[in-house]
Amino acid sequence: MGCFITFEGIEGCGKTTQIRLLEQHLTEKGFKVLLTREPGGCPIADQVRAILLDAANMAMIPSAELLLYAAARAQHVEEVIRPALAEGRIVLCDRFTDATLAYQGHGRGLDLDTIDYLNRLATSGLKPQLTVLIDCPVEVGLQRALARIDSIATGAREERFELESARFHQKVRNGYLQLAEEEKKRFIIVDGSKNVEETRIAVTNAVLDRLDGK
Ligand code: TMP
Repeated sequence: MGCFITFEGIEGCGKTTQIRLLEQHLTEKGFKVLLTREPGGCPIADQVRAILLDAANMAMIPSAELLLYAAARAQHVEEVIRPALAEGRIVLCDRFTDATLAYQGHGRGLDLDTIDYLNRLATSGLKPQLTVLIDCPVEVGLQRALARIDSIATGAREERFELESARFHQKVRNGYLQLAEEEKKRFIIVDGSKNVEETRIAVTNAVLDRLDGK
């Protein structure tokens, strides 16, 4: 059985850069790694992703959003994550069930127990062994995220969540910190307001310690 590691954080925290650097590092060390992401990670879930993140879909109601995340996750877990773990891979997943608790629960205010139930249904009980929360202030994250949007002139418009208010993102950040507090053994919190190299070292050390069973 492999090892399942998830990365979480608010928009612009730097997790996508860090997860790629970690993939490279672990691959060089000889580990078999699979890098994937949510929403998405397989063709059916990628189609759901397009609906979820489309900036034209601002009218989507919170419960529809929640159910779409659950649907995409169910497909992704069964088609991609479980088979990779069964092959003994380290699965690095950019966002997972904690994102639903943080965004749809703490951010949108949907009932946390209902989300917990849907998460368990969608994952058939699969939980990450380790979750890296890259934490940074909302102003820092949103500034990075908005700069990224400005630099992309064409292509799919995936910024529906970036366009939410700073207040929404503050609730999401607080939600993540609360989740980390509730499950101290599973979570590690890394300061994402530092530069890429400093954050990379913190992430790599924390993950290697965990893989070594420390
Ligand atoms: P990304 O920016 O990491 O690609 O994630 C896409 C967006 O989807 C991000 O704004 C967070 C949001 N999201 C949720 O709201 N709930 C979820 O369960 C997941 C996986 C992502």
